[in-house]
Amino acid sequence: MSKKKLIQHTSEHFEKMFQHPPQTIFLSPGRINIIGEHIDYNDGFVLPAAINKYVCLAFSVKETSECTIIAKDLNSEVKFDIHENVVPHKKMWVNYIFGVLHQLKIRQFPLKGFNVVFSSSIPIGAGLSSSAAVECGFAYALNTMFDLGLSKKEMALIGQKSEHTFVGVNCGIMDQFASVFGKKNKAIKLDCTTLAYEYHNADFKKYSLLLLDSNVKHTHLTSGYNVRRHEVEQGITLLKKHFTEVKTFRNCTEAMVDALRSELGETIYKRCHFVVKEIQRVQDAVQAMEASDFKKLGTLMSETHEGLSKEYEVSCDEIDFLVDAVQNEKTVLGARMMGGGFGGCSINLVEKGSEDAIIERISKLYRNQFGIELKPYKIKISKGTSRYKK
Ligand code: GLA
Repeated sequence: MSKKKLIQHTSEHFEKMFQHPPQTIFLSPGRINIIGEHIDYNDGFVLPAAINKYVCLAFSVKETSECTIIAKDLNSEVKFDIHENVVPHKKMWVNYIFGVLHQLKIRQFPLKGFNVVFSSSIPIGAGLSSSAAVECGFAYALNTMFDLGLSKKEMALIGQKSEHTFVGVNCGIMDQFASVFGKKNKAIKLDCTTLAYEYHNADFKKYSLLLLDSNVKHTHLTSGYNVRRHEVEQGITLLKKHFTEVKTFRNCTEAMVDALRSELGETIYKRCHFVVKEIQRVQDAVQAMEASDFKKLGTLMSETHEGLSKEYEVSCDEIDFLVDAVQNEKTVLGARMMGGGFGGCSINLVEKGSEDAIIERISKLYRNQFGIELKPYKIKISKGTSRYKK
């Protein structure tokens, strides 16, 4: 759905529900990640970018303390008083927002009642961070409407905290950061230890990024996301014990991980080995991108997939199939699963103009193998969470 249509139908629904037009519209984007997977919580670097798929929020402040939030796409609503204590809710979507409200309340911000309708063009469970977009969109809207003076970094951190405390997923900072800090045609190289960041031109010249959605939905709660976090924590604890110079995975080498292989045990060894290699791959990928060496970038993406699938074990048969299937495509330079994994999308670096033929061939193969319809997305790299101005 186009941005225009999304805004239009969200505003119209607001007007229908509250009998007046919304005061303000906010847009909060989903994200892709070029490379650097599962290392935002491992002191790594990541290379995400915001995309032209959004959560749209139609917002009005009220004079009373009553709040109504309507999730248009889910045909669901929640009503509450802003002075009430916010506690985790039985409807999961509410928790993304209550988690944010809770963070604002802890910081003792003065809030008033409000009405919101939100709707999204970011597919849910596709690894495009629809949840981070909701969290950041809300934080941004409340920050703007109630003049809270939060920085972009604080809003991203509030979104992440919301996920930890109310949703129960111990995520890293990448998704919220990308949603808030996104810039048109720029990838963000984020240092996940310091949160220092640089923008790099996401100009792939004769290539483009194509997403292939497996249509296998993940939820990180039931997937192994938190388990992975636990495994790498055990790994780094042991590495630090043996090598006093190691403070985080950032200063860990492959040789160190190899030296501790038997002590780490095969599973944790594989997890740590992936992390160390992936941290290096992001640095190499940024260099390759800057040098317009897209062959190299594609190779690095494919290596990442191999690691995610075999060592970190967060892929699934359907995504492995999609990545394998494009190996025979001459115009594909690299492919890998993207995001948390266990379903969602693959991201492919492909020659411009060849997208439709690839989509057609891979869709057919995929349908034959799994009986599932592939959903392709041709995305544009866009700006981060913002107030929409006509
Ligand atoms: C999810 C999390 C992120 C990140 C990715 C994997 O999207 O929310 O913090 O860990 O998985 O790179």
